[in-house]
Amino acid sequence: MDVFLYKSDPVRGQAWAEVFRRRAPHLDFRIWPDVGDPERVRFLAAWEPPADLATRFPRLEVLFSSGAGVDQFDFGALPPDLPVVRMVEPGIVRGMVEYVTHAVLALHRDMPQYRRQQREGVWKPLPVRTAGERRIGVLGLGSLGQAVLAQLVAMGFDCAGWSRSRRTVAGVATYAGAEEMDGFLARTEVLVCLLPLTGETRGFLDARLFGGLPRGAALVHAGRGPQLVEADLLAALESGQLAEAMVDVTDPEPLPASHPFWTHPRIQLTPHIASMTQPLTAAEAVIDNLRRLGSREPMVGLVDRARGY
Ligand code: GLV
Repeated sequence: MDVFLYKSDPVRGQAWAEVFRRRAPHLDFRIWPDVGDPERVRFLAAWEPPADLATRFPRLEVLFSSGAGVDQFDFGALPPDLPVVRMVEPGIVRGMVEYVTHAVLALHRDMPQYRRQQREGVWKPLPVRTAGERRIGVLGLGSLGQAVLAQLVAMGFDCAGWSRSRRTVAGVATYAGAEEMDGFLARTEVLVCLLPLTGETRGFLDARLFGGLPRGAALVHAGRGPQLVEADLLAALESGQLAEAMVDVTDPEPLPASHPFWTHPRIQLTPHIASMTQPLTAAEAVIDNLRRLGSREPMVGLVDRARGY
């Protein structure tokens, strides 16, 4: 029997196992380190694959990431023809929609400012704007960005999205590529980063980008830590170019105890919880991809290695 090997959080692995028993009984689902006969391992779902993957599992056909990102993989160490698949599943999408909607609403309704006022014993209503008067901009228009925008559009926000290559999203003004970045930034009051980490997006959120936003804009960062130039964020908050930041991802994670983000009055920090793979729906999504593989349809979330996501 072919083996589907799972190498990620073992508790969540039990939920995967349950789904596989029901939906894919033809596969021997195993949880690392109980690999069985390595020659029988055809599929691997992992957050961090073993370094000697190619020699250890000579018949491996597909590597599935157990998370939305694949930046934790060392592509140089993977066999060049091994298909790699990102996690695209409804649980992770819903989690991100919740996190970003919460962040946008909190910023839109001045919650960080009211928290500071409360601490100082200040009772001071601020002007209330309608959602239609609030301009949100989402960086990254993959499955997460599109789902987040659908929710924000439904709530009446004035929404735009930017992606590397042109995308169309209902009810959203879309911008593409470096040449349209300035126009996107100039109209964006709340900037949401949902980009994948690639060579191109490392250090993307920097002083130049913050400088393109209207003064007093806010950042919601739920992409990857290394995309943010931390010193530039601190400087932008210091100068007032940015008013607030909600940061879910950092570099490194966790941040060292002495890091200024911990205590910054205008940074709300969360420990990379914006969204997590939900095991039941993730296992279903992977089984669905195995079915596609079997009938030679393209798998959902198949990574383009040249692109990096
Ligand atoms: C979390 O950040 C993930 O990639 O799933």
